[in-house]
Amino acid sequence: MIRIESLQKSFQGSPVLRGVDFEIHDGETVVIIGQSGGGKSVLLKHLCGLLKPETGHVWVDDEDIVPLNERRLAPIRRKFGFLFQGAALFDSLTLFDNVAFPLREKRSLRETEVAQRVEEALEIVGLTGAGHKKPAELSGGMRKRAGLARAVVGTPKYLLYDEPTTGLDPIRADTINHLILRLRDRLRVTGVAVTHDMASAYKIADRIAMLHEGRIHAVGTPAEIQASPDPLVQQFIRGVADISQEVPSGNTTLH
Ligand SMILES: Nc1ncnc2c1ncn2[C@@H]1O[C@H](COP(=O)(O)OP(=O)(O)O)[C@@H](O)[C@H]1O
Ligand SMILES: [Mg+2]
Repeated sequence: MIRIESLQKSFQGSPVLRGVDFEIHDGETVVIIGQSGGGKSVLLKHLCGLLKPETGHVWVDDEDIVPLNERRLAPIRRKFGFLFQGAALFDSLTLFDNVAFPLREKRSLRETEVAQRVEEALEIVGLTGAGHKKPAELSGGMRKRAGLARAVVGTPKYLLYDEPTTGLDPIRADTINHLILRLRDRLRVTGVAVTHDMASAYKIADRIAMLHEGRIHAVGTPAEIQASPDPLVQQFIRGVADISQEVPSGNTTLH
């Protein structure tokens, strides 16, 4: 379980997180929504100690990671997989070597075991047999899936997704949505995703949390969020749907 308590973070004196309190339960997928530039990615980076807050706590399995130095963070980080925006693959490496990278970097596994784990990860994301390809040979959707394979290859307990469907057409976005659900159900990963794609949020979230002005403004199941009487929530979820080419207007109550 991850418990975030009174988390505050500023950059150059301007506050981004103004006191975030939130819990992420084991096995669930939480989606964080909110305005662009509102601090969603910043919040995600605090969960695994990539950023340090001014005040507050982040409890990961009952250990407050905020005071930990890099050396003591290392075993905590191994509990996490990340899918950052843009997938960030190494262009010069094959897909296989990209996915193998975190295993080779952190652990002393034999190459046969590395190969087995990489093949399993590629299979989970539907890229069996594509290991020899270079990132440049992959479509945007395949690159995201490759990034996902790299995120899960270390069998993390927690998976952090930053805008997993952004920039993908609706069909490819939906493939990623299904994969995220599959990872939750098959690997029992606890997921935290940041997105402004409401169709994706409704599909993958057990709970949705809306970050607004540096705090968690609303939390609920997708159905609760859609039915929320809160004008800010309605304005946000409708506003996002209206400007999205991918979701026909009026479609926000589906999925
Ligand atoms: N490393 C950083 N240094 C300075 N400012 C940052 C840094 N990371 C994020 N910010 C600022 O924090 C705010 C929130 O950013 P971000 O979390 O990326 O928003 P989003 O909700 O779109 O993911 C933005 O104003 C951004 O410019
Ligand atoms: Mg962001």
